[in-house]
Amino acid sequence: MCGIVGYSGKRPAAPALLAALARLEYRGYDSAGIATVFGGDLHIKKGIGKLEQVEENCSLSHLPGNSGIGHVRWATHGGVTTGNAHPHCDCEHYIAVAHNGIIDNFEALKRRLSKTHTFVSQTDTEVIAHLVEEYLEPGAPLEQAVGRAVKDLKGTYALVVASPVEPGKLVACRQGSPLVLGIGKGETYVASDFQAFLDSTRQVVFIEDGEMVVLTHNLFHIYGRDGKRLRRPPVMLDNSLVKAEKEGYDYFMLKEIMEQPDAILATLRQDKQTLQKAAGLISRSRNVVFTACGTSRHAALIGRYLFSSVAHRLSDVIIASEFGYFGEAVNEETVVIAVSQSGETADVLEGVREAKNRGAKVLSIINTVGSSLARVSDRVLYLGCGPEISVAATKSFISQLVIFYLLAFTLAGRLEEATGELARLAAEIKENLAANNYAVPEVADLLSGKDKFYYIARGINYAVAGEAALKLKEVAYVHAESMPAGELKHGTLALIEEGTPVVAITPCDVTREHMLANVAEVKARGAFVIGVSDLPNNLFDAFVEVPQVAEVYYPLVSIIPLQLFAFYSAIARGLDPDRPRNLAKSVTVK
Ligand code: M6R
Repeated sequence: MCGIVGYSGKRPAAPALLAALARLEYRGYDSAGIATVFGGDLHIKKGIGKLEQVEENCSLSHLPGNSGIGHVRWATHGGVTTGNAHPHCDCEHYIAVAHNGIIDNFEALKRRLSKTHTFVSQTDTEVIAHLVEEYLEPGAPLEQAVGRAVKDLKGTYALVVASPVEPGKLVACRQGSPLVLGIGKGETYVASDFQAFLDSTRQVVFIEDGEMVVLTHNLFHIYGRDGKRLRRPPVMLDNSLVKAEKEGYDYFMLKEIMEQPDAILATLRQDKQTLQKAAGLISRSRNVVFTACGTSRHAALIGRYLFSSVAHRLSDVIIASEFGYFGEAVNEETVVIAVSQSGETADVLEGVREAKNRGAKVLSIINTVGSSLARVSDRVLYLGCGPEISVAATKSFISQLVIFYLLAFTLAGRLEEATGELARLAAEIKENLAANNYAVPEVADLLSGKDKFYYIARGINYAVAGEAALKLKEVAYVHAESMPAGELKHGTLALIEEGTPVVAITPCDVTREHMLANVAEVKARGAFVIGVSDLPNNLFDAFVEVPQVAEVYYPLVSIIPLQLFAFYSAIARGLDPDRPRNLAKSVTVK
């Protein structure tokens, strides 16, 4: 959460920073700001709201100078106010800091510094600016003061500092939050994510925890925890990572939903040996535990089902934020499968670190190349579905499922069978999406006045119900609850009344008969039933048709119209599905 960026070059810094922040907005969009260095002064503008609003109100892009820093915020400490927006400054307005992470000991530091420094915000970040001020010595380099300041910090941070004390120089540090350098021609960037500067350069250097980097327009020096200079040549990112434009769509969410057939094909292009090695890790282990959050956890639940039904391996799924409470049972015989689109989710990273300390092996399933999770894992399988910008995960979910099909069928020695079927399904889904034959926008419009929804399913489709409900909550702000259909009669049935929408995922598989019985139960209590199926039924008030597929593949075809349903429900309610309130794409706080 929160995105930071720094730029030093020959071009005006502010427009470059603004463009970079626009690509980082998925990390936070409650406020934004930029600080540049020019004429011996810091120039700062910041405000609340989405970036375009802040630009409209404050003209961030008009700030002068060729170097500076910027920030998009997702509030943790201190409300959403202009005063709490970054960059933050020292007392003299001579040091500007943009920060992503949480400084756990900020209250103690603030108490200590308050005797001689004046604080103007409620944020944890402001202590960093005052610490640098405290340690800045006349004639000494800025990095010396920043290096001393970060030694006082406990918590997580990726931060970048600019000051007229050394115009054109930026100092950035990382501990637990992502940081990457971009090396262009006569210009350098530092940012939370390389997407920020991909339109300017694809040469990147990943910064590791405990490191500090000093950059100017034409050089960068990296220092390790011990203060010694490190040599790390830039790597060139490949083209497949560059695809973060809307390409004619009004929203990233819709674009990414429509991209799903291609995502399936892209994820299928796994290196066979890497896949075999990942499967080997699982087959040699005694216990298999998935850990993930949100959408990635729903994918993991389907993975668990596939491991059981296809590979006959029992496994468990533990929500990442709860993983630590199960630590005692994790040992050298455990393989932890960490699932994360971003590879930066703090809860996942913490669980994985704990598992490693206990001797477990870690296999990670990640979309973002170079992420923190990739660097702490024993093996990684990449989704390869391209950048996902919308806060609501869609194509990464489909790609995570593809990985689980590949792993389960590899474990069962039937890989070819799965790859053929998945490629065929990708083509079928593409046709359906192109023909727009899910009839979803009409149903979303019809139900746009409803404020609670229930999603029911059984077996492998149950996690699809969970994922569909999460999508609706997240982008349409509608209460939605999912459950195994058989569980309804144990309490929730009491909430069903005349007109209550119930989405019933009822494909022609082993669950059909029991599902129809449960549908009849809600119908008898007045529910409005939206049947998602390959076969209509009289019990359905609305019918969302999906193709008929072999049993294990139903999740792939049934989630897509339900993602569309959430999208069109947001549109019907006049909401921006790409930037849902209170959320951010990359959840780097615990
Ligand atoms: O990057 P990750 O997959 O680790 O993110 C996990 C969740 O934060 C994420 O899936 C979240 O639930 C999505 N916004 C849901 O659409």
